[in-house]
Amino acid sequence: AEMSDDLLQAARAVRENAHAPYSDFHVGAAIRSRSGIHVGCNVENASFPEGTCAEAGAIAAMVAAGDTEILEVLIYAEADRPVAPCGGCRQRLAEFGRPDTRLHLCDEKGIVETTTLGAMLPLGFQGDILK
Ligand code: THU
Repeated sequence: AEMSDDLLQAARAVRENAHAPYSDFHVGAAIRSRSGIHVGCNVENASFPEGTCAEAGAIAAMVAAGDTEILEVLIYAEADRPVAPCGGCRQRLAEFGRPDTRLHLCDEKGIVETTTLGAMLPLGFQGDILK
């Protein structure tokens, strides 16, 4: 967990930039890849379905930076229980991670729970079936 403190600080900081005027639920995500840390926050829209999750933003930043492998991922929110990724983001994360890739769920107290992408999405749809 101590090793993940840089991810925690990055996700906590980017959450400050969340655009969440409709839900007032602010989320930050940080991904570690080979080249470093990539962050994202949720970006809502007046047309509600067009909003994007923090995880989607962090994935886009990682891919834009030229990386395609998630080594570790952390989600930061402030709620009465750990915030886990939505179904769509579990699929998005699985695209770039592995079943044993660690996922940390965090709040103002720090890392509340550490799980894996495989635990988040058992029996997920995998792209290799298309080949
Ligand atoms: N949200 C995220 O950004 N990530 C999650 O893991 C859970 C939900 C956002 C989407 C929306 O802007 C707000 O939280 C409320 O659903």
